[in-house]
Amino acid sequence: MHDEIEKVLISEEELQAKIHEIGQDITKEYDGRFPLIIGVLKGALPFMADVTKRIDTHIEIDFMDVSSYGNSMVSSGEVKIIKDLDTTVEGRDVIILEDIIDSGNTLSYLVSLIKHRGANSLKIITLLDKPDGRNVDLIPDVAGFTVPDEFVVGYGLDYAEKYRNLPYIGILKPEVYKGS
Ligand code: PRP
Ligand code: MN
Ligand code: MG
Repeated sequence: MHDEIEKVLISEEELQAKIHEIGQDITKEYDGRFPLIIGVLKGALPFMADVTKRIDTHIEIDFMDVSSYGNSMVSSGEVKIIKDLDTTVEGRDVIILEDIIDSGNTLSYLVSLIKHRGANSLKIITLLDKPDGRNVDLIPDVAGFTVPDEFVVGYGLDYAEKYRNLPYIGILKPEVYKGS
């Protein structure tokens, strides 16, 4: 698996240090507010698991599964809800956790949905931001790392459902996805 990676862009240590910092910042800002933290499946799963362990105040967690890619490499722009929240967001302080913002299609859809459902506040925290991929205006409140316009995988990010289990963020060798 690792020999399909061109290079490690962000090491496991760098990821974990940043995640620790993000967890502490959430603790400070949301202490006593019982925020609702929404993880966007499937990509945000490792980030969600690690960052929540670094939060030292009461939180509620929930998940949404949306998809605009399927197995394609290009966002269709059309976002489909595969699993909705169990919780009502009305009046809640909501934090959305994402692994990456690329075109911005997924998040801009989720932001309007959560606002429409009457959240008291909304913060977008993404581990990775790829601003060069954007086709809608969307700036996250917190971005762990800015990544170049390359095919990044690992730590939740997949190519055709593979590589999510890498503990680091890597750039995929072009020969892996060329010809597919
Ligand atoms: C990926 C990624 C983000 C989204 C970002 O999810 O995890 O959720 O795409 O791209 P965008 O800004 O262009 O919308 P995907 O839809 O592939 O589902 P997955 O998380 O299950 O892999
Ligand atoms: Mn995703
Ligand atoms: Mg995907």
